[in-house]
Amino acid sequence: KKIALIGVPMDLGQMRRGVDMGPSVIRYAGVVERLEALGYEVEDRGDITIDRPGRVDVKNGDNLKDLQEVVKANERLSDEVARAVSEGKFPLVLGGDHSIAIGTLAGTSQKRKNLGVIWYDAHGDLNTGETSPSGNIHGMPLSVSLGLGHESLTGIGGTDAKVKPENVVLIGARSLDQGERDLIKEKGIRVYTMHEIDRLGMSRVMQEAMEYVNDGTDGVHLSLDLDALDPHDAPGVGTPVVGGPTYRETHLAMEMLAESGMITSAEFVEVNPILDVKNQTAEAAVALIGSLFGEKLL
Ligand code: ARG
Ligand code: MN
Ligand code: MN
Ligand code: MN
Repeated sequence: KKIALIGVPMDLGQMRRGVDMGPSVIRYAGVVERLEALGYEVEDRGDITIDRPGRVDVKNGDNLKDLQEVVKANERLSDEVARAVSEGKFPLVLGGDHSIAIGTLAGTSQKRKNLGVIWYDAHGDLNTGETSPSGNIHGMPLSVSLGLGHESLTGIGGTDAKVKPENVVLIGARSLDQGERDLIKEKGIRVYTMHEIDRLGMSRVMQEAMEYVNDGTDGVHLSLDLDALDPHDAPGVGTPVVGGPTYRETHLAMEMLAESGMITSAEFVEVNPILDVKNQTAEAAVALIGSLFGEKLL
């Protein structure tokens, strides 16, 4: 059981500075020790290099902020993740803002051509430059991975789409822009919003979601945006949205994923220590990683 830990100190995909410190604070919260205690061999590969422009938040003509730097970092990340997968290691990626899912999915899909994806997030991250209200690339990684959007993003790790819409499930959504809703309808993407979580309960939602993404796929990636959690439990995020699943419900989700044994790669993103309260969000991330990797009380 070998894990390749990869940090991505990226904050250029959105406007709140500080999320670049995410990998550090998750390490300080003890992620390596936690996994080693569970019997895993953890190879911490350090951080991906991020090119920092002199001035940040510069939008190009296609409504994309800091595009070149985001592309470069994701190319490097894609290579690093692909290497881990080819060595038979489980890639565990620490963000950084959610734009890094572009590189994680590009790298994972080098080997897994029919990858399932669980997108646990308050948001859809299904915008393109055309539909985005903000120009922030962290609101676009899932559409990019579906092959939609600017070609310098969709071309990372090859020009093919990295995931198929029928292999994707969103959990915890409660903030979707109009263009994202249109795309969800057009592609028939499976979404469990907070309405379904309230109605069915997390246990049933996870059961259904897991069956759905495991069907005919050759691996399942978990992309967990800490802003999926209710801001009460995870205040250290740049785009909080009230009314999310609790810390406990999210633990249950991770425990069910661990029991299923289906997860083959994962990323934990959007932890911003500047906005956090006593590193609570980083500590939540580490505890959830513990559950995802099989931690149990008895
Ligand atoms: N939908 C909004 C946008 O596109 C917010 C995206 C938030 N994404 C995230 N990864 N936190 O700007
Ligand atoms: Mn989000
Ligand atoms: Mn409703
Ligand atoms: Mn997100």
